[in-house]
Amino acid sequence: MYEHDVIVVGAGGAGLRAAVAADEAGADVALVSKLHPVRSHTGAAEGGINAALQEGDDWELHAYDTMKGSDYLGDAPAVETLAQDAPEDTMRLEHWGMPFSREEDGTVSQRPFGGLSYPRTTYAGAETGHHLLHTMYEQVVKRGIEVYDEWYVMDLAVTDEDDPNDRECHGVVAYDVQSGKIEGFKANRGVVLAAGGPGQAFDHTTNAVSCTGDGHAMAYRAGVPLEDMEFIQFHPTSLPSTGVLISEGVRGEGGILYNNEGERFMFEYGYANNSGELASRDVVARAELTEVNEGRGVKDEYVHLDMRHLGEERIMDRLENILHLAEDFEGVDGLIEPMPVKPGQHYAMGGIETDENGQTCIDGLYAAGECACVSVHGGNRLGGNALPELIVFGKRAGYQAAGKDLGEPEIQTGYGDDVEDETETELPVQPGAAGLDTSDSVAADGGVTADAEGVLEQTVERTRQRVDRLMDKDDGVQHSEIRQKLQNAMTDYVNVFRTEDGIKKALRIIRECREEYQDVYVDDPSRTFNTDLQQTIETRNLIDVAETIALGALVRNEFRGAHWRQENQVRDDENWLKHTLISWDDGEPKIFYRPVILEGEDKTYEPKERSY
Ligand code: FUM
Repeated sequence: MYEHDVIVVGAGGAGLRAAVAADEAGADVALVSKLHPVRSHTGAAEGGINAALQEGDDWELHAYDTMKGSDYLGDAPAVETLAQDAPEDTMRLEHWGMPFSREEDGTVSQRPFGGLSYPRTTYAGAETGHHLLHTMYEQVVKRGIEVYDEWYVMDLAVTDEDDPNDRECHGVVAYDVQSGKIEGFKANRGVVLAAGGPGQAFDHTTNAVSCTGDGHAMAYRAGVPLEDMEFIQFHPTSLPSTGVLISEGVRGEGGILYNNEGERFMFEYGYANNSGELASRDVVARAELTEVNEGRGVKDEYVHLDMRHLGEERIMDRLENILHLAEDFEGVDGLIEPMPVKPGQHYAMGGIETDENGQTCIDGLYAAGECACVSVHGGNRLGGNALPELIVFGKRAGYQAAGKDLGEPEIQTGYGDDVEDETETELPVQPGAAGLDTSDSVAADGGVTADAEGVLEQTVERTRQRVDRLMDKDDGVQHSEIRQKLQNAMTDYVNVFRTEDGIKKALRIIRECREEYQDVYVDDPSRTFNTDLQQTIETRNLIDVAETIALGALVRNEFRGAHWRQENQVRDDENWLKHTLISWDDGEPKIFYRPVILEGEDKTYEPKERSY
């Protein structure tokens, strides 16, 4: 068994920042990650970091843009914290050596991004996340923070009180990918989940294969509610064949979208008469698919993004990476022809419910980054708001886990007096593990296991047994079949345009996947670098997380942000100014709601019609 004050799970932007903060607060910290830190998915972030750095801009404008972008589902205390902390935290990166792009006079460059009223996206070419990871990893190395890389965290060691609000987290159990051994990591002060997003629940995604919602699934099964999971962002410019991201920075620099008739459709068809290509992502993604659905798409599949008019010098200076991606993955030279693009799953606005200090409803368990929902993004995240979220809330979660007093949070978590229960929506199938005997099977849960005394040892033992059962079984269904079926269902039915019938179909297929998973087996008998085993475990996580996305999408019968519903194509503030929360209650998802907080420090963000 290993022992540290603070265990950070995941070593992308949020995890690295949390680890550095916990170290600054005097804790003995360890990072435990299934990837080497600089291979984390943060490295794929291209566009930039929103922070009000210049005269003429201020944090209030950033907060306002973010609330509007969220379609009034962000919580104002979280949004204001993001906007207030982002400038200092971005400058700190610069002081740590991050190679930001600069103007002729040496000042850090900022460019326009979708939904921003000021060009406040700070960037490092079109590889901002890559440089951010390297800059922060240097800090981790400099401080001598222990890194357990290629250790896959499978379970949280959490106590078994009936009410999740009374539970405690004492550590994690991880699988060493190199050797196949399973060990406990005791956390004397806290565990911070920074395990990234669940993009692999979808077939066409900008996300890496490592983005399997492990943090979401472990927290969920331990009793922490997942919040606003129905809000999935589809980025308007992914490459059609692979899902690889073409940065919003292209449009920020002046790139133009055209349909198959050569029309600049964002203006031509009135999708966004003021901002055009720089409307927020949900608006642009719907516009592109409408063009395709109405027969104006290229090859009935995508639209064109043209940056040729920017000129080679500017493209090479600010967007060189984009040229390589278009060439390598589509065989298109962006200097002489337009690039094919279509919407692709990109980001989960929802996640593990936390307050603005990263605290979940379980004592000793914190979350930050894409796996968490503070909530700053609400119904739609603005481009350039993910990286500041990582550094601001990673830092806060790290401090809080290490015991630094950040003051009383305004955001409530867990199942308390302020929540409202779901009663009305009829579900097409039993969700969760109802009706299945998972207790002693390969599909056994991670999560709540034991009383405080010995909880870690017991969780280690149970995890070892689960892996032994998986390895001992010599036939059945392979996880890849189940995963593909799940991804197809989510892409077909829980995409940009959603219908009640479609979402119900997805829920039925998810149930089938869950049943088939009862018979899953691992073909590779090896104990070293057994990616088959790891992906089998990840697939179970994807099933749980995909189900919460579909459940949230079914119950929220309104159109808000990235969540469009055919049956009710209007935002319904009277009934839906509230967060959807789903918790794993003894194997059965329980749905409830908490009101959104629109009251900020000095003002209330009154919901307005959202036009760009
Ligand atoms: O388009 C992009 O460069 C992505 C940025 C983001 O998701 O914030």
